[in-house]
Amino acid sequence: MFVIVYIVMLSRLVYFSVEGDVGAQGILRILDEAREGNRGEEITGVLAFDRHWFLQCLEGPRDAVTRKFLAIARDQRHSGVTLVAFEGISSRLFPDWTMGAMDASGLDREAFDPPSMTASAALATLRGLRATGATM
Ligand SMILES: Cc1cc2nc3c(=O)[nH]c(=O)nc-3n(C[C@H](O)[C@H](O)[C@H](O)COP(=O)(O)O)c2cc1C
Repeated sequence: MFVIVYIVMLSRLVYFSVEGDVGAQGILRILDEAREGNRGEEITGVLAFDRHWFLQCLEGPRDAVTRKFLAIARDQRHSGVTLVAFEGISSRLFPDWTMGAMDASGLDREAFDPPSMTASAALATLRGLRATGATM
């Protein structure tokens, strides 16, 4: 008897972008679309935002995460999409959320300034927001 083992190459991708003045309703719509779009693809993650920036982490099968990122990068609701990290992982940091939302508006401008963040600083920020429970 053959046992076929399908090894999923899990990956984590982090990017930031300039928010295109979408407003609170626009963010809710993006989150709805993200959760709907990620559910069937085993993608989980978080989207942090304030009035200037998006900082998103996508975790899941490598091919699905790649396709999703390419689709998101074409979305007209943001610009200046910049890849911060893409790496293989053995476990997810945000396994429970098809797309968690983190409102970073309460942080200082300097504390939520994605262009100045290294990959590890970006992840530390996302983990820190999770720890403060700043989700919606
Ligand atoms: C900042 C931002 C983050 C997004 N995140 C996701 C996501 O995690 N998953 C997803 O399916 N769509 C996400 N979207 C929406 C996609 O860009 C796209 O509109 C949606 O997947 C529908 O695409 P389709 O019309 O080609 O099916 C995001 C959009 C923006 C602007």
